[in-house]
Amino acid sequence: MDTPESLALQLLGWYDRNARVMPWRVSPQDRAAGVRPDPYRVWLSEVMLQQTTVAAVKDYFQRFTARWPTVAALAAAEDAQVMGEWAGLGYYARARNLLKCARAVVALHGGQFPTTREGLLTLPGIGPYTASAIAAIAFDEPATVVDGNVERVMARLHRVETPLPAAKPELTALAARLTPAIRPGDYAQAVMDLGATICTPRSPACGICPWNHACRARAEGLQSDLPRRSPKPDKPTRHGKLWLGHRNGAILLERRPERGLLGGMLGIPGDGWDGQGGEAPAKADWQEIGEVRHTFTHFHLILRVHAGHVDGPPTRGDLIPRAAFRPADLPTVMRKAWDLARHRIGS
Ligand code: ADE
Repeated sequence: MDTPESLALQLLGWYDRNARVMPWRVSPQDRAAGVRPDPYRVWLSEVMLQQTTVAAVKDYFQRFTARWPTVAALAAAEDAQVMGEWAGLGYYARARNLLKCARAVVALHGGQFPTTREGLLTLPGIGPYTASAIAAIAFDEPATVVDGNVERVMARLHRVETPLPAAKPELTALAARLTPAIRPGDYAQAVMDLGATICTPRSPACGICPWNHACRARAEGLQSDLPRRSPKPDKPTRHGKLWLGHRNGAILLERRPERGLLGGMLGIPGDGWDGQGGEAPAKADWQEIGEVRHTFTHFHLILRVHAGHVDGPPTRGDLIPRAAFRPADLPTVMRKAWDLARHRIGS
């Protein structure tokens, strides 16, 4: 019979041989030799990893840490620069919270991250997942880290048939029972690696899994059916317009309001996309040139894109010289519109 301790040790042994290499990670061998991870890099990587895959995060992480090597450097950055580097990762409230958090660490904690889960939870933008991940990985607190990978591993190992999201508390409790007092930082990363590389959503590689002998889903041949999920409600579709104005090689762009969708990001002026209508940002020979589609967390969006040569002063936004504007600073939906329109306006 496997005890929680023996299961944790088996997984740690697997991790010692199979830990993935990541730019923010301290290998189990280096950890054993006393190397400590930098809490700033752990925090930054965990916030980024909530958006997208490890592969996609690597580039963003390298650019951020090259430009802002410490939390103090990030805290001192200009908002627009950080929003620009974040562009493309999505969920822009996270980037605003990232800055708020960096500034709170500097202003309230002398530039050092709090070293406990409880202390980390007091920071802006740090929720239960991130607090547990930093506490475990950076400070070796036996905090339980539960992301989608860990939920899947627990649902299979313990054959939990309750569908997600209702199963979350049960899966968290099961994960907590397994979290060891020794090497909790390595363990947290090990379960996530197991979920990402072996206990994958489809076709899990059970033959090489260090927990295959204990896996109750595998014993029943149910591994590919778990975790079950309640059907998600359909997302509504919203419609709207964008107006991409240009004049003498300059592009009409606006900084979006801090609050709300794509808050604080650079954008192409639009009509609000709320069915209320809205005015074009300038007089121009507007022509509809096509549409872009984008899906946000809670809705699909279809935007009809207009381009035109601006005549007279704009009522919103600023004409920014093409050379002073980086398309990479635009959030993805705006970038799609830019890619559609750029040839029309000679860019
Ligand atoms: N996914 C999110 N954070 C991770 C980490 N620290 N290791 C592996 N996968 C992860």
